[in-house]
Amino acid sequence: METVKFTQMKDGDREDYAFLTEHETEYASGTADRLLAAMVELDKSLSGYKVTRLGHSLQAATRAWNAGADIDWVVSALLHDIGDIYAPYNHDEYAAAIIRPFVREQCAWVVEKHGDFQLIYYGEHVGANPHKRDAFRESAYFDDCAEFCEKWDQSSFNPNYSTRPLEFFSPMVTEVFARKSYDPAVVRANQREAMSNSALAAARSAI
Ligand SMILES: [Fe+2]
Ligand SMILES: [Fe+2]
Repeated sequence: METVKFTQMKDGDREDYAFLTEHETEYASGTADRLLAAMVELDKSLSGYKVTRLGHSLQAATRAWNAGADIDWVVSALLHDIGDIYAPYNHDEYAAAIIRPFVREQCAWVVEKHGDFQLIYYGEHVGANPHKRDAFRESAYFDDCAEFCEKWDQSSFNPNYSTRPLEFFSPMVTEVFARKSYDPAVVRANQREAMSNSALAAARSAI
């Protein structure tokens, strides 16, 4: 069978759907590679800053890496603005939807809300509410998102920062997207991991 037999989904049988599941699984295994290619595409978006969107993303991921953050944090920092390509008005939600099945709930939440939290830095200059983040004060992840924005996002527009290349992060993206989707051991609902680890940061600075 090279294609399914049906022309409308309701007519498909077990054989058709087994065939499609096989194709879907194979296609899904290429997700990390497609995301890495999209990151290169991100290089063309949003001009005017001193760094490209890819440069900004790599800088955020490098800061996370340098802080000794775990792989969930590093990959989340790398992909946090990937939504800029297709969803400029809700890029945060778009990026969160991509990473949510494969990273800790904490990281997906932070990526989803980072757009609102970033307004604290520039909302007043564009007629937006700088305190939009206050709506999330009760969240267990409020402080994480504030820290993510302060240390890794708003700070990562410096063209002179020593930034690691995409190839450095590629194996981490591959590892994260090879995980079983929505695995409770990965999602770890309501668990928080620190965004820095000084021992790991010191060890990494030697690499
Ligand atoms: Fe963003
Ligand atoms: Fe950003």
